[in-house]
Amino acid sequence: MQLFRTKSLEAIQSDVSGDDGGGGQVGHLRKRLSARHLIGFGIGVVIGTGIFTLTGIQARETAGPAVVVSFAIAGLVALLAGLCYAELASSVPTAGSAYTYAYATTGELLAWVIGWDLFLEFAFGAAVVARGWSAYIGNLLDLPTSLFGEEAPVNVGAAAIVVVLTLVAVLGIRESARVTNVLVLVKVAVCVFVVVTGIWFVKGANLTPFVPAGEPTEGSGGLTQPLISAIAGLEPATFGIGGVLTAAAVVFFAYTGFEAVANLSEETRKPSRDIPLGLLGTLGVATALYIGVAFVVVGMVEYTDIDAGAPIADAFDQVGLGWASALISIAAVAGLTSVILVDLVTVSRIGFAMGRDGLLPQSIARVSPRTGTPVRMTLLYAVLVLVAATFVKLESLANLVSIGTLFAFVLVSAAVPVLRRTRPDLPRAFRVPFSPIVPVLSALACLYLMLNLEVETWLRFLAWLLIGLVVYAGYGRRHSRLRDQPQQAAVGSR
Ligand code: ALA
Repeated sequence: MQLFRTKSLEAIQSDVSGDDGGGGQVGHLRKRLSARHLIGFGIGVVIGTGIFTLTGIQARETAGPAVVVSFAIAGLVALLAGLCYAELASSVPTAGSAYTYAYATTGELLAWVIGWDLFLEFAFGAAVVARGWSAYIGNLLDLPTSLFGEEAPVNVGAAAIVVVLTLVAVLGIRESARVTNVLVLVKVAVCVFVVVTGIWFVKGANLTPFVPAGEPTEGSGGLTQPLISAIAGLEPATFGIGGVLTAAAVVFFAYTGFEAVANLSEETRKPSRDIPLGLLGTLGVATALYIGVAFVVVGMVEYTDIDAGAPIADAFDQVGLGWASALISIAAVAGLTSVILVDLVTVSRIGFAMGRDGLLPQSIARVSPRTGTPVRMTLLYAVLVLVAATFVKLESLANLVSIGTLFAFVLVSAAVPVLRRTRPDLPRAFRVPFSPIVPVLSALACLYLMLNLEVETWLRFLAWLLIGLVVYAGYGRRHSRLRDQPQQAAVGSR
């Protein structure tokens, strides 16, 4: 039954505010951020490999010009989950985000599962983007692909960028925010430039047929087919409506990470107002830019001729704007840098929250008085990111990130109606409209996208969760603060 012990909201709030005289053993994060910083962080982590790389592959191989619709569908699903996050994060502002909401609603075991799942999202997300960064910089500076490309057995470029950005993340949240904001400006400016310039080169002929006729996917079956095809006994399809939906599940990766804003709520001066603004502002900007950029790319070049590696830069090359192509590559490098940085900052915050609850060793989660950041936790995750980025292929990691994120979104969506029933008294600065309809829709939509991911991805995800359960059984279950301080547990906890 201890597996389902819940942490009371009062205990969570006292951890955050410091009423217990010290946030447990781990100290406090500093409140320094505003809505502007949060949107900067959000865009910093969201716009990355998804739009700069996946657009091309998905247009060419899965959806055709209708990849624009795939981006819109994925954006809508992210927005539904974003509304749920906004309600929870504005009423329970804590660095643990989804992990802590689960602790308050469904209990310790599921909270641990979510926390473990979030490590996967942010640590492996950073690794994916570090590999993308390495490929772009290699391309830009003509560096050897045996050290910077996907085929490199030891990816030196990815390793180097992880080391440099770990130092920035350790130096402090304000410094991280400053670096991120500069990179974000460059990234947004280039996306706007792509849309405003590219629109003049869009040809109607490239957009027809908008949804190419569906055809069976060659060589897809067994572990490489979407789970939904395996369950329903359907032949995996490319293009057509099925292709648009499959592409939506893959390009969902482009929206992952916006919840990082919720992880910063403990460091935000006015979380009740700024967290919803940060979350929804980030998603609004990203969705608009993605749809615009994807439309321009498929409109400039026939979808069969779109480049798989650097689709946006190459489209400008193909219409004779070589100078713009180089500019876009530089911005891609800047954009990917900010994604890695925010991922590193976020993953250490989740670890901080779990350490504070005793589910991870508190000695690791402690905040350094000098920098005001959880230095040891940041370094520990940096090692995991470093190993993954240096040795593991981008593709296998990217789909894992998407499935992990969608899984967390299903649970966060479910937590909204649960908390409304169990804690109707809680002040909610932001309320999801039409609850429970919108949260239920959000959970179902995320589940549906998960089913569109490959069987192989599901198996890897389950293996990761299994490792997490072993760690919990070996450490967290016995060291949980709720075990030593039962008064922190919710009254009437199961
Ligand atoms: N959403 C981030 C990207 O597209 C992870 O790179």
